[in-house]
Amino acid sequence: MSRAPLQLAPLDAAHDRAAFRSDSEPLNRYLREQVTQDIRRRVAACFVALADGEQIAGYYTLASASLLLADLPASTGKKLPRYPTVPAVRMGRLAVDRAFKGQGLGGALLADALQRAARSEIAAFALMVDAKDEAAAAFYRHHGFIALPDSPLTLFLPLASVQRS
Ligand SMILES: CC(C)(COP(=O)(O)OP(=O)(O)OC[C@H]1O[C@@H](n2cnc3c(N)ncnc32)[C@H](O)[C@@H]1OP(=O)(O)O)[C@@H](O)C(=O)NCCC(=O)NCCS
Repeated sequence: MSRAPLQLAPLDAAHDRAAFRSDSEPLNRYLREQVTQDIRRRVAACFVALADGEQIAGYYTLASASLLLADLPASTGKKLPRYPTVPAVRMGRLAVDRAFKGQGLGGALLADALQRAARSEIAAFALMVDAKDEAAAAFYRHHGFIALPDSPLTLFLPLASVQRS
């Protein structure tokens, strides 16, 4: 039997945060215990993929950020204005429930985050991520993200390269 398509939506109180189980306990705990406070304080926005209206199959968070021009690869930095920082959007967290792993949901959530950042009226040069380990960094590199030369777990993707839909 094929599953109904997942819906993407901003997290809200009706969604079942307690049942979410990814491979990362810190990311499960964050969804259970901290995200609603971060949303209230406007330090993060959270978007979820919903399996049946309230079961959370995956989630990600977005917030404003900046990148130091000096930290970018020279080939990227030389095309940017000489300000000390460039604006960015940080995807602080991304996780997929074990029941949905390996089915393209992580990639779909990443694509949704890129679209959301690219269509914002507020300019940002790139979507950036702080990968929690080398495996996560490999996932982002697989999707075209570029690592900062001196911090390989911080990666970015210029939003000008994102095809808006
Ligand atoms: C990382 C994670 C989000 C991936 O989600 P997923 O739904 O299993 O991934 P997908 O099925 O969408 O994979 C999409 C593509 O990425 C590739 N991929 C997945 N994990 C990868 C990895 N660690 N390294 C390289 N490529 C990877 C897949 O092979 C697939 O490639 P394809 O599109 O060419 O077929 C998920 O495993 C997870 O929640 N992990 C625990 C939390 C975590 O590590 N979060 C990372 C942010 S710090």
